Amino acid sequence: MSQPRSIAVLIGSLRAASLSRKLARALIQRAPESLSCDIVEIGDLPLYNEDLDAEPPPSWRRFRDDIRGRDAILFVTPEYNRSIPGCLKNALDVGSRPQGQSVFDGMPAGVCSITPYKLGAFGANHALRQTFVFLNMPVMQQPEAYVGGAGELFDADGGLANAETDTFLKGFMAAFAGWVEAIRANAGDEGFGEFLNRRATIAEAYVSGDEKPLDDILAGADPATFFSPAGDRETGAAAIAERYRRDARTFASAGASRLEVLQSGASGDLAFWTGMQHARVRQRDQAEPVDMTLRITEIFRRENGSWKLAHRHADATKPAAERRQAVAA
Ligand code: FNR
Repeated sequence: MSQPRSIAVLIGSLRAASLSRKLARALIQRAPESLSCDIVEIGDLPLYNEDLDAEPPPSWRRFRDDIRGRDAILFVTPEYNRSIPGCLKNALDVGSRPQGQSVFDGMPAGVCSITPYKLGAFGANHALRQTFVFLNMPVMQQPEAYVGGAGELFDADGGLANAETDTFLKGFMAAFAGWVEAIRANAGDEGFGEFLNRRATIAEAYVSGDEKPLDDILAGADPATFFSPAGDRETGAAAIAERYRRDARTFASAGASRLEVLQSGASGDLAFWTGMQHARVRQRDQAEPVDMTLRITEIFRRENGSWKLAHRHADATKPAAERRQAVAA
């Protein structure tokens, strides 16, 4: 069997005895083998505040990294005042930023809402679906899952008290597996937002001396250009590929890189992002790592349906100590 699809399960309740958590566990137990599901916690995410994104809290990084690596997300939520609980909306807000780097972009989703009352938390279910429009998350339409009367649904061990619900949840998870597969099979048509997430991972591998992930996104055709931080330039896809490989081999392992996207956009077969790359790198011939910030512009072109790097312009900013010296002089 091929690798199971990795599913993050997000729960819209933080309380220990949560019915939603019991339902999430019941769904996970009934998932087909093609899905590997686990709960991603959201209770430790500070309320979203754009100011904090200059140096994101560790829990935001953990959450974003975790979601970024998933194939799909299953939401299991109660209803608060006919909408979704704040903790779940906060998780969506945290994952959707910084602008242009949403970890949800293109991510297939499923929704299961639950309440001890009669209306099946319909309001929460549909309020959640409203956010998916802007987040660009293709959500499974059928079957819908509105679990009502949930106070009587579970026994003391969290097992399901009735066979009808058991059958329904199994069917729901089987349909969800089909939905995820259908959307992911079509993923050759990668959205640029989703691609930028991958670009960030490739950049991190590169500054750790691993040039292979970059190979996947190098332009295979001309024109292609690279303006390097050293001030020189390369032209032509073949020469640039060779240059990138050579440069990557100068880096020791365990480098770090973060892309700060200031602007990005895609239109037809062209896309760009511009901003900063914050990196910590150690050259193989140096004992200590160096922090560097590069000013970046990258232009991508679709070649056979995949985004390829047609142009990169990287300028080194001066280290802070050097800037201070310049001012003093
Ligand atoms: C609720 N509850 C609730 N239920 C519902 O069906 N519709 C609603 O609009 C609301 N509103 C609401 C607001 C707030 C602030 C709370 C705390 C609760 C009741 C809710 O369904 C019930 O407490 C569930 O048990 C909560 O889910 P967990 O925590 O058991 O997963």
